[in-house]
Amino acid sequence: MHAFDFHAPVLVEEVMRYLLGGDGLYLDGTAGGGGHAEALLKRCPGCRVLAVDRDPEALKAARERLAGFKDRVAFARMSFRDAPSHPRLRGEGLAGALLDLGVSSHQLDRRRRGFTFRRGAALDMRMDQESHGSAAEFLAGASRGELHRALRAGDAPRPGALAGRILQRRAARPTRTSDDLVAVLESVLGRRATHAEKARLFQALRMRVNDETAALEAGLPAIRDALRPGGALVVISYHSVEDRCVKRAFRDWSDPSRGLPRRLPVRDAELAPLGCVLTGRPVTAGAAEAEANPRARPARLRAWRRAA
Ligand SMILES: C[S@@+](CC[C@H](N)C(=O)[O-])C[C@H]1O[C@@H](n2cnc3c(N)ncnc32)[C@H](O)[C@@H]1O
Repeated sequence: MHAFDFHAPVLVEEVMRYLLGGDGLYLDGTAGGGGHAEALLKRCPGCRVLAVDRDPEALKAARERLAGFKDRVAFARMSFRDAPSHPRLRGEGLAGALLDLGVSSHQLDRRRRGFTFRRGAALDMRMDQESHGSAAEFLAGASRGELHRALRAGDAPRPGALAGRILQRRAARPTRTSDDLVAVLESVLGRRATHAEKARLFQALRMRVNDETAALEAGLPAIRDALRPGGALVVISYHSVEDRCVKRAFRDWSDPSRGLPRRLPVRDAELAPLGCVLTGRPVTAGAAEAEANPRARPARLRAWRRAA
């Protein structure tokens, strides 16, 4: 398979601009097909990369693509939230870290992975198929409250009504396939669902099945603390929930006094900024990239640098 068939990396120039900060060890916490890692290893001959992904198919593709870099790259199948405890990081601060969130084109395009709303896909949606239950299992076992919370948190359309309808029909007809889930959506909307509505529903379910927001909330501060002074953290998100979480974290780390009541008995050192935001507004794809690669269109890049 050609590397670009697996996943075409987005915002490569922009990632390099913010991420590269000299030789040393970099973390690619969402290696996917290894496109960003390859660019990093090529442009910075003194860099090494720890390439992490939860998905064994992604790691296999990344290994193949990056084989020529020999021992400058190491691979680990794990969530990026746990990457700071990887033995490679012992005693060495990260020169930089990248999180390119969400799913790869490979995951979306393979019907058997069950991320797609194209017809006839079994609802799986797991990035790591060994670690937890599938989307169909979640839909079969979740309470109404759990369903509602998951759909609302992921910005699905009409989350309350959808949760009720899934529950109502599951005794007779479980929601097991993409067609079942689209049928539920259309029964709530009372008409054919648009592409965007289906995408929002499937994305909300995927985020819940893989516990994506929790991984991001825990991973951001853990990776921040693993950076060496002056090291950068670059995050690309594709969903407003993720982008908000990144924006808030970067802002709070850059101004720890933010939101604290005045006259609180805290020492100045506790209020010192941990670093600074490098991107006032999120960086997005230019017209040419958005035209060539539709999956770059929703991408929002934010970058932060740890104080030197
Ligand atoms: C958009 S793709 C990354 C593409 C990659 N930058 C490239 O150049 O090919 C997102 C990848 O992140 C992985 N992923 C998502 N959440 C993760 C997590 N918490 N820990 C590790 N990998 C994760 C997915 O399995 C997927 O392969």
